[in-house]
Formats: sequence, structure tokens, C-alpha cells
Amino acid sequence: MPGQTATERLETLLEAPAKTDDGYLDLLGDVSQAGPPTGVAQRLMRTTLLPQVYERYWRPALGRALKGPFGPSMADEVRLATKLLDLEPGHTVLDVACGTGRFTRAFGAAVGPDGLAIGLDGARTMLAKAVAEGGPDTVAYLRADAVHPPLKESTVDGVCCFAALHMFAEPETALDSFARVLKPGGRIVLLTSARRGWQPARVAESVGGILSGQRMFDRGEIAASLRARGFTAITERYAGVTQIVAGRLS
Ligand SMILES: C[S@@+](CC[C@H](N)C(=O)[O-])C[C@H]1O[C@@H](n2cnc3c(N)ncnc32)[C@H](O)[C@@H]1O
Repeated sequence: MPGQTATERLETLLEAPAKTDDGYLDLLGDVSQAGPPTGVAQRLMRTTLLPQVYERYWRPALGRALKGPFGPSMADEVRLATKLLDLEPGHTVLDVACGTGRFTRAFGAAVGPDGLAIGLDGARTMLAKAVAEGGPDTVAYLRADAVHPPLKESTVDGVCCFAALHMFAEPETALDSFARVLKPGGRIVLLTSARRGWQPARVAESVGGILSGQRMFDRGEIAASLRARGFTAITERYAGVTQIVAGRLS
């Protein structure tokens, strides 16, 4: 509706009313953790300090370590996600586990002036930083469980979930939810872990995953999961121990 703010438009897409809190809609209230806790990596995201250094230092440095020297830069990741989602002005896009909103802001610019970019995260500290960062007025933030995004069925043209699926207690349920909120023909793009096939590396990577509370997916596993949910035109890119997988819901 003309004249509505992005947050007001987001409210119309939700399954249940949400309280407005510090610039974002909050469906979790006093609950500090969205979904069952999975370990140290997820806990770190809720600290006060990490969101302050996340976008500038933490994510680029950790990303480089995990993607390897030839993997995409942060700017490349944002460009690639925007391209693989095939975003157009007027689209509605959901950035699941948006953190401080780096991708959400870029999506907001791509779908402007009439579209909507929704950044969903469970951590108040991350969302406070995302709101403080500002961005296009097509952006709205939502505090909710990423595994069960509380949006009505078939409401979004694109779903992005970068650097988070491996942190969720129920990643397969999250994929079901992503397919549920996507419109037919909608696009998905995911960046997550990818264990290598070579046995010694595989063991070391699995141990690293267990210690940090993050699941190590196999190469090809996410593509197969998407295919099983009706996604087609699937593409896979591997760099270090990461994979970027994209597809279109048929
Ligand atoms: C590593 S950050 C990724 C942020 C951003 N997508 C990026 O690529 O830089 C992971 C985010 O997932 C969020 N998160 C983890 N589990 C979640 C859950 N069950 N529900 C909502 N957010 C969750 C954390 O709060 C954190 O902001």
C-alpha cells in the first residue's frame, strides 16, 4: 500500500501480530535464544561485542579462512546472492539470519523503490546494529526463529540464508519453511558448510564442526535437499569448506 513504511508492510505478511521493539518487529519477546541452542558459534552472535565488529572484521576474516584464498570476497558474495536471487524492483525478499544486515541492505536497494527486503534474525544485538546501520527505506527487520519464519505461505520472491544454516538445530525443517514462504518460481540462495571428501580433511572438519556447534554438510547434500523440495535450476559453487547453492522453486 502506498504510504506504508517497510515495517508496516512486513506486518501484513506475518502469520501473527508482532510487537515493535527498537526499530524491528519482535515475535520472540523475552526468549533470548531463537530455537534450541546449538553451541558456541550461535551463542557468540548474541553477545554485545560481536555485532560491533562482525561486518567489518569478523565475517570477512572468518569467511576468508573458511572459503580459502580463491573464494569470493564479501562484496562478491553480496553481488552473487543478489544475482542468483534474480531480484527486480517490486520483489519481496527474505534474508534469513541477516545478522547486521549487510545483505538485507543490498537487497533493499535492488528491490526499490516499491519492493521489500526483510531481515530476520534471532539475536537482539545483531538486529540493534542492523537498525543502527540504516539503509534503504525498503528494509524492515524481524526478530524470529529462522527455522520457522512466521510469514504467510507463498509471500516472498526470494530467500537468502548465508552463513547460518549449519547453526540451526533443524536445518531440514528450515529448508521446508523456506520452500513454504516462497512463491512458485521464487529463488533461494544458501551459503553454508561443505565437508570435503578426502578422509583426513573430512575428519578434521567434522571435529571442528562439533566443537563449534556447527553442522558440516557434505558436498551435494544441500543441492539434493533442495531438489527433494521441488527446486530446479540448481547451481553449486564450492570454495574451501563452504558451498553456495541456489535454485528456483517450480
Ligand atoms: C554468522 S551470522 C550470518 C549473518 C549474515 N547472514 C552473513 O552472512 O554475514 C549467523 C546469524 O544467524 C543467527 N541465528 C542463528 N540461529 C538462529 C535461529 N535459530 N533463528 C534466528 N537467527 C539465528 C545469529 O543470530 C546470527 O546473526
